[in-house]
Amino acid sequence: MARFRFKVNGQQRTVDTDPERPLLEVLREDLRLTGTKYGCGEGQCRACTVLMDGRPIVSCATPVRSAAGKAIVTIEGLAEGDRLHRVQQAFVEEGAVQCGYCTPGMILRTVALLEQHPRPTDAQIVDALDGNLCRCCGYPRITAAVHKAAGGAR
Ligand code: FES
Ligand code: FES
Repeated sequence: MARFRFKVNGQQRTVDTDPERPLLEVLREDLRLTGTKYGCGEGQCRACTVLMDGRPIVSCATPVRSAAGKAIVTIEGLAEGDRLHRVQQAFVEEGAVQCGYCTPGMILRTVALLEQHPRPTDAQIVDALDGNLCRCCGYPRITAAVHKAAGGAR
């Protein structure tokens, strides 16, 4: 057992826990941030993607000790009040959400992509999101939503 401090969605949080516990488990069970999804639990589907210091990580395969002193952003941290983040808004407008299970991870990875490439090409989108699995196979709409969020249309 050890104490860890890190920021989550702009707020300082403290948890006392086993250093090897997956960050995903701490977010969902200790901090009640259930927007981050448990998919495979083995680092293979990216449903559990969150941002750590702005970079996407798979939280199921990240021990909580790695988050110490870092800034984590989960899907709950994107909207401002009633106003959705532009990536969330684009996913809604393009109908890029079916069951929604992959959606938080897709959106967070898109946020990181647009930081790096404000107007990404199809190839850059595929490169960024390729490992994020969508069991509903919504990939064409997801790609369209990324373009829309970037200010372009397809
Ligand atoms: S739940 Fe983390 S990669 Fe699948
Ligand atoms: S929308 Fe169902 S898994 Fe992607």
